[in-house]
Amino acid sequence: MQRLEGRVAFVTGAGRGVGRGVALAMAREGARIGVIDIDGGTAQETAALVEAVGGEAIAVEGDVARRADCARGIEATVAAYGGLDILVNNAAWTPTPGRLLMDFDDATFERVLATNLWATFFCMQIAQPHFVARGRGAIINFASGSGTIGNEAQGAYAAAKEGIRGLSRTAAREWGPLGIRVNVVCPFANSPGMIDWAALDPEGHEAALQQIPLRRVGDCEDDVGRVCVFLASDEADYVTAQTMWVDGGSGSVR
Ligand SMILES: NC(=O)c1ccc[n+]([C@@H]2O[C@H](COP(=O)([O-])OP(=O)(O)OC[C@H]3O[C@@H](n4cnc5c(N)ncnc54)[C@H](O)[C@@H]3O)[C@@H](O)[C@H]2O)c1
Repeated sequence: MQRLEGRVAFVTGAGRGVGRGVALAMAREGARIGVIDIDGGTAQETAALVEAVGGEAIAVEGDVARRADCARGIEATVAAYGGLDILVNNAAWTPTPGRLLMDFDDATFERVLATNLWATFFCMQIAQPHFVARGRGAIINFASGSGTIGNEAQGAYAAAKEGIRGLSRTAAREWGPLGIRVNVVCPFANSPGMIDWAALDPEGHEAALQQIPLRRVGDCEDDVGRVCVFLASDEADYVTAQTMWVDGGSGSVR
């Protein structure tokens, strides 16, 4: 039996990178997938890739910084597949290159909060009644070593990502009695976002690589996606309120 057979997952920012890897890993284990991305073309591509591995997916174009778009994506997924079991809040945005705190304008800071922290809150609130209807649910939220370390020039992103970890711990307490588990993943993986950063700051990227005991960058599907499968599956039925660093042991924990 597949580990997510009969389950329905909604994955944000699944048009590329880690989100696509999570969608594919979950589909290979039997989950049906709702994909949302601000880039509708890449969302369609991911849905086609899911179907190519024998799964089922629907694609929605939407901006998760907008509550209405989150609701549209989740409701379309529930309408297509009859319910919801898994929510993966993976979509993220931060300005590239980064900027020092004194260089941030309010609108950019707010956009980073909206695409990371607010989006996660919106999707969690909208998904919760669907989990209650099922009597169970698994939420996986994405945070970052940029937050736990407090990387320079990533102030808004660090604030948003650490906000997501706090939100996740509170939700784990409030919703645990309802059968809903909430965990956080901090990855280090070969997504297009990571590849862009490596091109922009090769020295920083090389330095980050040297900090990884396993001496390689993780794979979006095989390394990060499969950990998300575990966290969403019954094998992790007694695991909640945890942050899991899927980063080759970089040691960014605080
Ligand atoms: N890749 C890494 O090593 C790494 C490290 C630390 C944290 N993370 C976190 O892991 C997650 C995935 O990272 P990634 O590297 O795959 O990112 P990425 O930039 O490669 O992909 C992000 C995806 O989210 C989508 N997206 C962005 N804003 C959106 C919005 N407002 N609405 C809907 N979709 C939107 C993009 O179109 C894209 O498809 C993110 O939460 C990121 O912060 C990744």
